[in-house]
Amino acid sequence: MSNENSQRSAGEAALQLITSRSSVKKFADEVPSRAQIETLLSAASRAPDHGRLAPWRFAVLQGASREILSRAMQAAFVERNPTADAETFEREGSKAFRSPVLIVVTAVTQEHPKVPEIEQWVAVGAAVQNLWTAAQAVGLGCAWKTGSHAYSAHVLKALDCAPTEKIIGFLHVGVPLAVAPVRPAEFADKTRWL
Ligand SMILES: Cc1cc2nc3c(=O)[nH]c(=O)nc-3n(C[C@H](O)[C@H](O)[C@H](O)COP(=O)(O)O)c2cc1C
Repeated sequence: MSNENSQRSAGEAALQLITSRSSVKKFADEVPSRAQIETLLSAASRAPDHGRLAPWRFAVLQGASREILSRAMQAAFVERNPTADAETFEREGSKAFRSPVLIVVTAVTQEHPKVPEIEQWVAVGAAVQNLWTAAQAVGLGCAWKTGSHAYSAHVLKALDCAPTEKIIGFLHVGVPLAVAPVRPAEFADKTRWL
C-alpha cells in the first residue's frame, strides 16, 4: 500500500472510531494491561491545553483498590440516606466494580493571567475524549459517570485529592460486552454557517 493510501485508511479508521463511539453498558472481567492503560493516559495527556497547564489528574483503580471508592461511595450514600436498607447500600458500593478498571479523572485548575478557569476545565474534558478514543483503538471501551459521588467529600478524601481538585468523571474502562446504540450525529440545528 502506498503511503498516501495507508494514511487515508488510517484516517478513515480514526473517523470510524470517533463516529461509532457509545457508552459501554457491560464490561468483560478481563483486566486491561498496564501498557494499555498507559496508552490511554498518554493519549489523554496530548489533549489541547491552553498555556500547557496540564490541569488533568488521573487515579487508576483496579482489582481490590476499587474497594477504596466503593467504601467512600457507601459512606456518602448513607450520609444522604441514613435509613437506606442493606440491599440499596450494597448496590451503591457495587458501582465501583462495574468495570475492571476505573480511571477517576480530576481537574486541578489555577489562577492564570491568560487562561481562564473554564478553559482549563475544557482541556480536561478534551483529555477524557482523547482517552476514550484511544481506548476504542486498543479494543477497549468506556462509560463516563459522575452523579452525586463526583461531588462528595468522602470520595475526594478517599482518592487523596488536593483541596482544589475536582472530579470530572469516573471513567469505567474495560473490554466491552454490551454497548449503547450509537446516537445519530445531529448537528444541523446546532450549527450556524456564517
Ligand atoms: C460530564 C459528564 C458526566 C456524565 N455523567 C453521567 C452519569 O452520572 N451517569 C450516566 O449514566 N451517564 C453520564 N454521562 C454519560 C452520558 O450520559 C452519555 O455519554 C450519554 O448518555 C450518551 O450516551 P453515549 O455515550 O452512548 O452516546 C456523563 C457524561 C459527561 C460528559
